[in-house]
Amino acid sequence: MFLRSNERLLIGRDAADAARLACERISSAFDGTGDERFVALAGGSTPKLLYSLLSAPPWVASSPWQRIHWFWGDERQVAPDHPESNYRMAWEALLSPTQVSSDHIHRMPADAADIGRAGLEYERLIQERVPPGPSGIPAFDLVLLGVGPDGHTASLFPDTPALDESQRLVVANFVPRLAAWRLTMTFPLLMAAREILFLVTGAAKAEIMARILASPPGPGADGKPCPAARFREANTSVSWVLDADAARLVAPTARL
Ligand code: 6PG
Repeated sequence: MFLRSNERLLIGRDAADAARLACERISSAFDGTGDERFVALAGGSTPKLLYSLLSAPPWVASSPWQRIHWFWGDERQVAPDHPESNYRMAWEALLSPTQVSSDHIHRMPADAADIGRAGLEYERLIQERVPPGPSGIPAFDLVLLGVGPDGHTASLFPDTPALDESQRLVVANFVPRLAAWRLTMTFPLLMAAREILFLVTGAAKAEIMARILASPPGPGADGKPCPAARFREANTSVSWVLDADAARLVAPTARL
């Protein structure tokens, strides 16, 4: 089985080339005039290069910066100035260099005293600000995601309660393997996006990407389902943007 008609696999020579391919894809998602755009940013380390490219020539000139509202797909339970903060990484690499106005930056407050309540409040903010799609769920114009070696995406980790959430849009999720709480968007919200783009680079991701892009998708090395593989069933545009190292074990049939 090849990739579904709503999927595309883009392979860059290296991490920089993959980030450039992602910029091209993102730029087309921002096409069109007038209306505001709503984007959910990925965390972790991979997107830093992408964000730095987006905030520099030539891409900085092609994005409607003042019309985009920026949200986060997930956040660690740390302060916004913490080295591990997904907010801090995006602020430094993308939002500060492009001077995005503060009323367009919607930080996910996972450091709040009551993380469960913070998730509910962030969900309400999204419901108020992000226009609904055909399903009635707020539909981001673009959701950026990464993949962990265990197949997690956002903070939807294998064997965690958030995987089974079918109603809420943003929840607190305890991750035993990290012994840490996270805030994360859930599958219903992420799947409602008009465009989903995974950026995955590095040899450490080769095994999990081969499993996710197999036909049908396979389980992770621990035999558990890969949360990111659930997006193989998404009914929206899904781009898998990899570098050659991360794509090394992906079957040739998946590349057609
Ligand atoms: C996070 C991310 C997470 C990330 C993957 C990949 O907060 O950690 O949202 O889902 O995308 O863990 O992380 P790297 O890009 O650092 O490999």
